[in-house]
Amino acid sequence: IASHLLAYFFTELNHDQVQKVDHYLYHMRLSDETLLEISKRFHKEIEKGLGATTRPTAAVKMLPTFVRSTPDGTEHGEFLALDLGGTNFHVLWVKVTDNGLQKVEMENQIYAIPEDVMRGSDTQLFDHIAECLDNFMDKLQIKDKKLPLGFTFSFPCHQTKLDESFLVSWTKRFKSSGVEGRDVVPLIRKSIQRRGDFDIDIVAVVNDTVGTMTTCGYDDHNCEIGFIVGTDSNACYMEETHQIDIVEGDEGQMCIDMEWGAFGDDGSLNDIRTEFDQEIDMGSLNLGKQLFEKMISGMYMGELVRFILVKMAKEELLFGGKLSPELLNTGRFETKDISDIEGEKDGIRKAHEVLMRLGMDPTQEDCVTTHRICQIVSTHSASLCTATLAAELQHIKENKGEEQLRPTIGVDGSVYKKHPHFAKHLHKTVWRLVPECYVRFLRSEDGSGKDAAMVTAVAYRLADQHRA
Ligand code: GLC
Repeated sequence: IASHLLAYFFTELNHDQVQKVDHYLYHMRLSDETLLEISKRFHKEIEKGLGATTRPTAAVKMLPTFVRSTPDGTEHGEFLALDLGGTNFHVLWVKVTDNGLQKVEMENQIYAIPEDVMRGSDTQLFDHIAECLDNFMDKLQIKDKKLPLGFTFSFPCHQTKLDESFLVSWTKRFKSSGVEGRDVVPLIRKSIQRRGDFDIDIVAVVNDTVGTMTTCGYDDHNCEIGFIVGTDSNACYMEETHQIDIVEGDEGQMCIDMEWGAFGDDGSLNDIRTEFDQEIDMGSLNLGKQLFEKMISGMYMGELVRFILVKMAKEELLFGGKLSPELLNTGRFETKDISDIEGEKDGIRKAHEVLMRLGMDPTQEDCVTTHRICQIVSTHSASLCTATLAAELQHIKENKGEEQLRPTIGVDGSVYKKHPHFAKHLHKTVWRLVPECYVRFLRSEDGSGKDAAMVTAVAYRLADQHRA
């Protein structure tokens, strides 16, 4: 009982402090009403991105992927896969056996992409990829086979076929010259040909969201949405082909890579973006681009908290107005710190530990404030994701003309998977914003890069049907 009472008094003492932070960051605490307003705006963006006349100026690109099907369970074969654009670069070999109970065997190797290669020339980047593939095939002794390969390339691409994919623009930390506007398939092919001792058959280039949807689709055939919130964020879904003006034919469905990270690039979120969001953008590699992504994803969440801490300290609302060189340093407060602080039962103690690491000597109040800032920043991010997801669900529901919908969303990304409360908050809010959709959230398997191979297996089945 004594410890209960103590905890109660502590809670009361902290309560005041929490209220002060809430008041200070009131513009980051989004009501359901505001979320529905943002959702409405995103709904308009969806329509703009799909329309033939409106799409050239649309911020949200809604890119057709030429993936026309999710798994049906009959996929089989031996494949190679490359996965570029996530935290790591993966090369994989996958064997899918269709014996009624689909079985997957897999070999996976992670390779580094040095910073200078990421920002060097096109030849440097693709030669490096070919070299990694060479090394991998050597190890597995499969150089004598010409295997079908799927390439998960997690960037916005203008596709005209499954195996023709023109990079629209680099996002993330990539800036390799001479690739934007070009089809990446011949670029890889050329680098492989230059090596001259093995060959492959590039079958599909896919976005990572498409990979997530496809992999989850093996376990749940209702999975028609892929959603990622990790270092970066994006989503895809199966669209009715007749809704996609720039794709010929009216039959069936095609997956759309929404590229929702660019929501707001035309100013449509200016009233929602905070001074901290502007500061993030100003310090980034791609100024004025991927504005929504900068508000929500793991690459920036820690930095958002740091900006808030610094501003409050400068206004003498925190740390007695003092600052340490570490706290003033870009990237020192990590998104992982937010997860740790919010994850511990005693988050205040964890906040103390993190702040000490940053050279501060925080009081109990400083720690309570930091803990609360973390909660506000992560909740803000999850809430914004629900606004775009709600619009996506609404759009799919209208497409189908159904009163109710029971879709499954395949999800991946470190923020969703590792933050202790993000997923729960996101689920609850989506259920509240679109109550007529009984959404199931399905986590994709962890970081194996298997997605790329799964899409290749589906692509190969479809290509086979085409050839037949
Ligand atoms: C960035 C890319 C997008 C990708 C996402 C998640 O937003 O532009 O293509 O899906 O990151 O990795």
